[in-house]
Amino acid sequence: MATEKDEKKKESPRTFQAPKGMHDVLPADQVYWDKIGDAVNELARAYGFGRIETPVLEAAELYNKTSGDESDVVAKEMYTLRTKGGETFALRPEYTPGIARAYLEHSLSRLGQPQKLFYVGPVFRHDRPQLGRYREFNQIGFETLAGPNDPIYDAEIIEIYVDLLRELKIKDFTIKVNSIGCRVCRPIYRKQLTNYYKNHEEELCEDCVRRLTTNPLRLLDCKEPSCVKLREKAPNCLDKLCVTCTEHFKAVLEYLEEVGITYELDHRLVRGLDYYSRTVFEIYANGKEAEIGALAGGGRYDYLMETIGGHLTPAVGGASGVERLIAVMKARGIVPQARPPKRVFLAHAGALAKKKAFALLAALRAAGITVSESLAKESLGAQLKVADKEGIGIAVILGQKEIYEESVIIRDLRTGLQEAIPQAKLVDEIRKRLHG
Ligand code: HAM
Repeated sequence: MATEKDEKKKESPRTFQAPKGMHDVLPADQVYWDKIGDAVNELARAYGFGRIETPVLEAAELYNKTSGDESDVVAKEMYTLRTKGGETFALRPEYTPGIARAYLEHSLSRLGQPQKLFYVGPVFRHDRPQLGRYREFNQIGFETLAGPNDPIYDAEIIEIYVDLLRELKIKDFTIKVNSIGCRVCRPIYRKQLTNYYKNHEEELCEDCVRRLTTNPLRLLDCKEPSCVKLREKAPNCLDKLCVTCTEHFKAVLEYLEEVGITYELDHRLVRGLDYYSRTVFEIYANGKEAEIGALAGGGRYDYLMETIGGHLTPAVGGASGVERLIAVMKARGIVPQARPPKRVFLAHAGALAKKKAFALLAALRAAGITVSESLAKESLGAQLKVADKEGIGIAVILGQKEIYEESVIIRDLRTGLQEAIPQAKLVDEIRKRLHG
């Protein structure tokens, strides 16, 4: 027999939570997002990058062909869906292939080379959620496409992320760099690596046994303890670089040194995506925040365009996870200053003033001025408390006296200084004070 409890359970409506590994960004966190957004826009302007936006959905095959069938991002983490028309799309697990697709589709090379593009937006990876690892997260990316494969561009991408971290007051981090060679030297290294691991095949994890034939470089990236141990004695790719790659890498390091950027060489750094050649890098916070994972990562990908029907097009770029940046800022107690809101607060004193204030509100908004109010509150003090809570610096106050005089009071809420001005001059005066 159903108990009262069962009945209640049946009646109560279902509650919902955000999908696992995905997050709401609440108002209290907006200071971090604003700070990061401002810093990225400022850096893009300073370094000459133009913003690009691409669809969240792309043909799944785009990622198979570029990021790689065997990469975790594609093989394990990609959200795919079949449309009614029978096409298979993927929620972008990263931006770079979509940027390359857009570059070719719109013949952006005609607009000048290199094309320097940046983006900020959500990406999706069906990974196991944990500290610093989410299923929906936001990437900030900078990509330099086409032009010569000049090592100065590789250094510039790394420099941008160093600047970004500095701007966010994230100090104490490590930049790891490596070169994984080109079409000439990588096959030789690949062979050596395969031979090394073949001799230890029984110690490898299941995934790595498979990768040994598909992409042996990825074995260096495996997190399984037995594979990590084997990695220690694996051949060093830097010893196998051809002369051109050695020169290229040396120049990247020299450019970094030229701008005072210290780095760590890490010959085991191979990155988890297939399209890289030559320079690869990752940046980690030092100390316990290293657990959050890489704050930025990227590298050169000269052959990517060829895999999707373009010509050989030198390219280099990197991306950073916004949520990870915020996680480090929070862990280190870095709180960005909130932007002073560019708006005024309209308050009233008395019933007649309330009516007039309602009309004034409409007039101010029509003039393009952002106005906050709490007109439903009758006490002036209570209204101004709301203004204070919202951090607004200027209040426009309308009382009985002002209605007859067709004036209005403008009060600086920080200093308490106020003056009465004719209503006809209100819009100009506010514009002056807000933008001033
Ligand atoms: P990635 O290393 O896969 O590279 O991701 C770039 C950054 O995204 C990471 O350094 C990290 O900050 C953040 N990230 C990655 N996975 C997660 C996750 N599950 N949760 C939170 N944050 C995460 C790329 O995506 C390449 N497209 C970068 C690139 C651009 N290479 C050349 N150009």
